[in-house]
Amino acid sequence: MTEKDFVPAIPFTSLEAGNVHAEAPSNIALIKYWGKYPGQIPANPSISFTLRNCTSTTSIVFDNRSTGDSGVSFEFLFEGQPKPEFEPKLHTFFDRISKYLPFLENFHLKISSSNSFPHSSGIASSASAMAALSACLMEIERRHHPDIAPEYVAMKSSFLARLGSGSACRSIDGGMVVWGAHKGISGSSDLYGIPLPDRIDDVFRDYQDTILLVHRGQKQISSTVGHKLMEGHPFASQRFEQANRHMSEIKEVLVHGELDRFVALVEREALTLHAMMMSSSPYFMLMKPNTLAIIERIWEYRKETQVPLCFTLDAGANVHLLYPGMYQEKVLQFIKNELVAYCENEQYICDQVGSGVKVS
Ligand code: PMV
Repeated sequence: MTEKDFVPAIPFTSLEAGNVHAEAPSNIALIKYWGKYPGQIPANPSISFTLRNCTSTTSIVFDNRSTGDSGVSFEFLFEGQPKPEFEPKLHTFFDRISKYLPFLENFHLKISSSNSFPHSSGIASSASAMAALSACLMEIERRHHPDIAPEYVAMKSSFLARLGSGSACRSIDGGMVVWGAHKGISGSSDLYGIPLPDRIDDVFRDYQDTILLVHRGQKQISSTVGHKLMEGHPFASQRFEQANRHMSEIKEVLVHGELDRFVALVEREALTLHAMMMSSSPYFMLMKPNTLAIIERIWEYRKETQVPLCFTLDAGANVHLLYPGMYQEKVLQFIKNELVAYCENEQYICDQVGSGVKVS
């Protein structure tokens, strides 16, 4: 599929006013996307698993528009309140996608969105929010052309979400999702996410992600700024090559259920992401003392118990604990006994692999 395959071939005649609704999850990257080219093209492929509980819910009421102004006309409420600070991002998004959804100019959109996870918990909501919004917009196209294939609907929803926030394109499908062309993964594309086509071992089907909220509040750097730090970074090309190698490796690990290699690979990815930030110009340190304390405690616990518990990090201080579902009780006990002490207000969120966006 190329970009022009996402420009509707059949003209849009008319559609009654109506409303659409979508609930989209966040996702957690195992191999990280960090660095991009113009047009939201990733500098390296990435893979994540889709979550179940951390979701954004978006509704759009669309109505025929009276004025003939160009551009998409919308109003936006977040958790019932106007959010002027989100509007520039939405304008950029609509400017990028309008040629793929030209019918939007016929409507005025009333968009309302909310998140299932606590506000300013330090969990990035752009992935779930942009995925939910894109799925709603794609549902308007689908209602007009009900014969379009469900696979195309998913691909185009992901394509649109990518134009809102790169990693959002991995939040449409469920399970393990790949974004970015990789020679060993058939059907992979820089333009949209696809479910990993290989059959993965059962141990990864109910994987848990317990998110320890080490530091709530605003992120120190936005991901837009973060990706830019890879331009001219002294280790950029080595990092992009490494990520490609890691993609081949993780595919094997997922298919064969090799937990020891999984743990080593996922932690190396998390620390490499932070190493890139620590060695860029300007440099950033997004881990907090409690992030490091948790990591050390995880390493000790793994040695003591042989439980294949590992961590990953996003561009922030919170720690994602990843482990197979069969260890849930044991790990939650460890968290309650020892790790909550390192969390702000003892807060953590229990999540696990989920099945992707739901549209109605
Ligand atoms: O989608 P963005 O532009 O917010 O970038 C996300 C980057 C990381 O979360 C750090 C890694 C990833 O692949 O999700």
